[in-house]
Amino acid sequence: MDIYKDFLKKYLSEKRINHSISTAKLMHKYADDFNIDPEKAYISGILHDIARELTDDEIITLAKKFVMRKVCKINYLKFKLNHPHLLHGVASAELIISELKIRDKEILEAACFHTLGGTHLPNLAKFTFLSDYCEPLRNNPASRKVLKILIKEKNFNKAYFYTYHFLLEYLLHKNKIICPESIEGYNEAILSN
Ligand SMILES: [Fe+2]
Ligand SMILES: [Fe+2]
Repeated sequence: MDIYKDFLKKYLSEKRINHSISTAKLMHKYADDFNIDPEKAYISGILHDIARELTDDEIITLAKKFVMRKVCKINYLKFKLNHPHLLHGVASAELIISELKIRDKEILEAACFHTLGGTHLPNLAKFTFLSDYCEPLRNNPASRKVLKILIKEKNFNKAYFYTYHFLLEYLLHKNKIICPESIEGYNEAILSN
């Protein structure tokens, strides 16, 4: 956590700091296997959830600021504004720019898309999406299966696809709303899996 320690402590509970560190370590360790920059992988992992514990109003304000920057297109914005927790990654991207002055587009996109996935994502964003799901502290049967596909089978596309699979399965099982962006991501991922 090193240089990001104070930033994490400012915004997150101990439990979520541990999740962020676990995600960052996983990503840093295996980035090379998938031709991803390990340093960017670490930064994406450690910062992706920085806005996760803010209020809905704070998330909406930050997310709107980020959208105005036009770094990348945020799809289904109206839908997401009605369910502000879905925008915590976009709000994280805004904090990463405004407080840490990190303007790397790939890192910002990785934060933006880690919650729902999406289509035509860069590999760093895909890696953040699936690592957030399968980092070892999650330790549930679905996350363990994705982790095994990633680190034992070394099959990035399959791990990416199964992240959508389990995510959508969970949302259906719990009768929760599903953003069309995740369905589009699933449909794209099934073709390359
Ligand atoms: Fe998150
Ligand atoms: Fe996360």
